[in-house]
Amino acid sequence: MSHVPVMLSEVVRLLAPRSGGVYLDGTFGGGGYATAFLEAAPCTVWAIDRDPEAIARGASLAARFPGRLHLINGRFGDMLDLLAERGITTLDGVVLDLGVSSFQLDDPARGFSFRSDGPLDMRMGSGGPTAADLVNTLPERELADLLFELGEERASRRIAREIVTARGQAPIASTARLASIIRGVMPPDRSGIDRATRSFQALRIRVNDELGEIERALDNASRLLSPGGRLIVVSFHSLEDRIVKRFMADAAGRAPSPSRHDPRGLTTRAAPRFRLLTARPLRPGTAETTANPRARSARLRALERAVGERAP
Ligand SMILES: C[S@@+](CC[C@H](N)C(=O)[O-])C[C@H]1O[C@@H](n2cnc3c(N)ncnc32)[C@H](O)[C@@H]1O
Repeated sequence: MSHVPVMLSEVVRLLAPRSGGVYLDGTFGGGGYATAFLEAAPCTVWAIDRDPEAIARGASLAARFPGRLHLINGRFGDMLDLLAERGITTLDGVVLDLGVSSFQLDDPARGFSFRSDGPLDMRMGSGGPTAADLVNTLPERELADLLFELGEERASRRIAREIVTARGQAPIASTARLASIIRGVMPPDRSGIDRATRSFQALRIRVNDELGEIERALDNASRLLSPGGRLIVVSFHSLEDRIVKRFMADAAGRAPSPSRHDPRGLTTRAAPRFRLLTARPLRPGTAETTANPRARSARLRALERAVGERAP
């Protein structure tokens, strides 16, 4: 199955690519967003993906837009350095479409899916510990905390206990075995959501340091944007969205109330350097969620660097 870009028309409308503009697609994936930007205006797109397979797939698109699409295999949390090495220090827009792509999810060999059997890997890129390394080595307590904090899994303690018992018999090496251990802990609920969903999400976030990546990316992006430049982020669960929401609110000057030593905030509150474009997150319409269930949990937030402001 190919990857269907989520909230594509909203993203293109907010980015508003213009002739000569330079944009970063920090999550190239199947190239759905990048293609739309390149088609919308004679602009240049830099595209990052930590997955070498996504970058390799992008070669034909780069050939279709000679000199206008530049592909980089790396992490979006390193965008400032990755672009500086290539002589790029300012951008007219940055877009992040968080999470995994259908290419990754649907390939059992990548180990993301509890629906099919494969090695328990879950790395979007190469290098670093796999999900199997975590479930086979973390102390029970740490495993439980991880499932609770990154998966919001209420049965985290029981699942961690079962994992530790099971790995004592033989290392847990496959997605199917891990999923069956988790399912054995709780009865199915009426929601129809697979019982392994939250634990798999937690492991994936930790294996790829997804929340740390988002924090670094938002900071990097805010330094790269030129006046009028826009940052657009599509997130898929509350942990991601919370980080994006806070960052954007702070950047736009909606910081917590000023200090009691300076109640009017005269010294602490500089004029906002950014403007929120989405007071509330945009959500996909029903037509999109019906056609593409992956879009159901999407939330889009956008920020603009104020005109007349320079990057810090
Ligand atoms: C949801 S897909 C993006 C789909 C894309 N917008 C499209 O239209 O085809 C997310 C992609 O981001 C990549 N990714 C996730 N975290 C990343 C990170 N920290 N750095 C670079 N790429 C990342 C994944 O490898 C995946 O290919």
